[in-house]
Amino acid sequence: MTTTVNARALQPDDATTPAPRPTVYIETYGCQMNVADSELMYGKLQAHGYAPVDVPDGADVILVNTCAIRENAETRVIGRLGELRRFMKPDTIVGVTGCMAQRLGPRVLDQARHVSLVVGPDGYRALPALLDGARRGEKFTATDFDLEEHYEDVVARRFEGVKAWIPVQRGCDYRCTYCIVPTTRGPERSRQLPDVVREVQQVVEQGLTEVVLLGQTVNSYTDGTHDFADLLRAVGAVDGIRRVRYTSPHPNDFSDRVIAAMAEVPTVCEHIHLPMQSGSTSMLKRMLRRYTREEYLKCVARMRAAIPGLALTTDIIVGFPGETDEEFEDTLSLCREVRFDDAFMFKFSPREGTPATRMPPEWTVPDAVVTERFDRLVATVRGISRENNLARLGDTVEVLVEKVARDGELLQARSRDFKTVMVPADAAKIGDYLVVQLTGTTGATFTGTPVTNKPERQPLPMVG
Ligand code: 5AD
Ligand code: SF4
Repeated sequence: MTTTVNARALQPDDATTPAPRPTVYIETYGCQMNVADSELMYGKLQAHGYAPVDVPDGADVILVNTCAIRENAETRVIGRLGELRRFMKPDTIVGVTGCMAQRLGPRVLDQARHVSLVVGPDGYRALPALLDGARRGEKFTATDFDLEEHYEDVVARRFEGVKAWIPVQRGCDYRCTYCIVPTTRGPERSRQLPDVVREVQQVVEQGLTEVVLLGQTVNSYTDGTHDFADLLRAVGAVDGIRRVRYTSPHPNDFSDRVIAAMAEVPTVCEHIHLPMQSGSTSMLKRMLRRYTREEYLKCVARMRAAIPGLALTTDIIVGFPGETDEEFEDTLSLCREVRFDDAFMFKFSPREGTPATRMPPEWTVPDAVVTERFDRLVATVRGISRENNLARLGDTVEVLVEKVARDGELLQARSRDFKTVMVPADAAKIGDYLVVQLTGTTGATFTGTPVTNKPERQPLPMVG
């Protein structure tokens, strides 16, 4: 039996908790908001007697938390759902959550017969009850939006050791013509400032010192009383917090108040990820980004004037419908003008139901042209980033050690301006702040030599 349910209507607290503790494995795709949502799901399920595990092999529940932003993100998940079959026991329950679940709804159940649950981003509260139902052989789709849902009472189960992802806003009220997010995450709504501050205080009690505030257009945050500037000031002042970051802002929502807060609150890091998407005003208009090339540049100039040493990264789409050579050249020239520290670059992917798919078919940019432009863009962005990084060699910076690097020997750390720095140090230093000199760069990442092992805050020894 397949049932479509409203997640709020279910009373998870009435659900029976089976014993012994069933295990749950969640695999996460896509953005940091999904990482944060997976932490919420783990937290919710743990509170209902489930034990989180980090491999799918033999788990009682496997959830795949999905992304729908580009077609290849969905193709990967479809492939992965097939692979996960081999880890299933006869009674394992498989659920699909997140943006792809929201977008496709019951169609997921038709495409993958071993899936029992399809739950959108506003339905996670009901997971324990839905899993109980699935155990009785039922199948569920829960994809209603719930504009009140911020999971305030759910304590996230965090796996990241040194920083915490904190959703402060869900959904999006912009309607960029390429973007599926307003469809998959619904209208914009913000948490109350005191609730966010309370969560940040809890994070500090758990020993973390860096928070990343999350929202689709995070700087349009408003709880009716407070704006994003208030939020930055309140979070930045929480005792024990040393670094505040946020992602992703929209260029149109950088009020003078927000820029002043960034400049004045010492814990707010000197880095902004500022999605540009295109450097051409005519293209930005077709994308419905609501700013021109000149306005984007003005925004950058205001921020740079207020925040010395500001690092800027961005998102760029190549091959949006109708992209002419001239428009693409405008994107390259804007990259040269701004000199981004780094960029995420994407080939346009048409998403069913978005306005871009209703543009004239003759506007479609041929694959070969898209690939050629994409390669040129990558070379340009990487070249600039390399030049920027070479100019930094010899600088002394404070880094937060995040984890053991992929090579297994060095530790991976991050500067306040978001540079990745590999440091030779003992794994016991994870979570510590070190002062390092940037001694080498691959062009993209740095190697750093500690100039002192002492966390900056440690009192200096008395002399004399
Ligand atoms: N095709 C390609 N890239 C996209 N993005 C969003 N939608 C699409 C799409 N349909 C990119 C944008 C956004 C980032 C998260 O993903 O650059 O900022
Ligand atoms: Fe998508 Fe635009 Fe909203 Fe970002 S601002 S989530 S790109 S619609």
